[in-house]
Amino acid sequence: MPSSEVLVPLPGAARPRDALSRPLRDLRISVMDRCNFRCPYCMPRERYHESYRFLKSAERLSFEEIVRLTRLFVALGVRKLRLTGGEPLLRANLADLIGDLTSISGIEDVALTTNGILLARHAAELKAAGLERITVSLDSLDPAIFARMSGGFAGVDDVLDGIEHARRAGLSPIKVNAVIQRGINDHTALDLVERFRGTDVIVRFIEYMDVGNRNHWERELVVPSQELLERIGARWPVVPLDRNYRGEVAARYGFSDGGGEIGFISSVTQPFCGDCSRARLSSDGAFYTCLFATVGASLRDPLRAGASDEELLALIRGTWSARADRYSELRAQRRVAGERRKVEMYYIGG
Ligand SMILES: C[S@@+](CC[C@H](N)C(=O)[O-])C[C@H]1O[C@@H](n2cnc3c(N)ncnc32)[C@H](O)[C@@H]1O
Ligand code: SF4
Repeated sequence: MPSSEVLVPLPGAARPRDALSRPLRDLRISVMDRCNFRCPYCMPRERYHESYRFLKSAERLSFEEIVRLTRLFVALGVRKLRLTGGEPLLRANLADLIGDLTSISGIEDVALTTNGILLARHAAELKAAGLERITVSLDSLDPAIFARMSGGFAGVDDVLDGIEHARRAGLSPIKVNAVIQRGINDHTALDLVERFRGTDVIVRFIEYMDVGNRNHWERELVVPSQELLERIGARWPVVPLDRNYRGEVAARYGFSDGGGEIGFISSVTQPFCGDCSRARLSSDGAFYTCLFATVGASLRDPLRAGASDEELLALIRGTWSARADRYSELRAQRRVAGERRKVEMYYIGG
């Protein structure tokens, strides 16, 4: 059935709640498992080498399949979408997909997370297709540290150029995500604040997380957001701001002198599982209910085998209803069992 015909109005009561009573509100879609960077905390180069077997094109969901599944998620309560990867701008004609997704009735927000390298080339067409806002990852303005944390395939200026093109194209707000690792880039965090203070770019610091099993995560490398907040606040006083909406992952702070805002995503020291309404769709169509999940439910296989919308809805609803994930809370309580096998972030999407 063409995706335009898939409209499944469901009464509010049919919207699933998971085992911890959390609704399904957000969907993160990984449109591309490949990446043109090799950030050691995500896709360490020794594991993702030239002969690593990424998905073949036919294994990835087509745009039509993504749109069909998204409509079903919307019928179950999803209102916000984030396109991610891998590097989403490596996916050819991504603007076409954005155009289709932004026109789905019920969708209130479509966002995109990118490493920014291809953004200068694509910002205007993304905006024209209906994208309103964008998140660009940039861990440090120091060229050597940036190279170390991204794999050395491009420079800081390329990312800054991408941000500038996004600004000129009218994408707003622009958020900059920086993963902070102790002894690697934490001493350059204030430079990022200084660079973007007083502009409309919002810098958000992310605690280094133990996603996947391949990034050699060590708790000692995590800089607690509270520590970073104190360092920043000592230089530029800040006040806490209210959350924009329930379930927002970043804690927001405004500069007392009116110089804009910053955010902290603290999944290690201040887990936010209690409000988590996020589902994730991998590039090959597996439905994951947590960033730290071990298994996903394939939606692509039944879809390609001819499943009806009702059958797919039942699968999504059943998977969400059974969800009891609260990995980050358990990690904080040191109740995570040893070396469990988790899905990798580039595949499921950040
Ligand atoms: C997986 S990336 C995908 C999108 C795009 N390639 C990018 O880098 O923005 C999404 C976000 O996850 C973050 N990320 C990746 N691995 C992480 C980790 N181990 N801990 C915290 N954040 C991580 C990245 O810095 C990025 O901001
Ligand atoms: S964080 Fe983004 S840019 Fe870096 S390797 Fe992962 S997917 Fe690529």
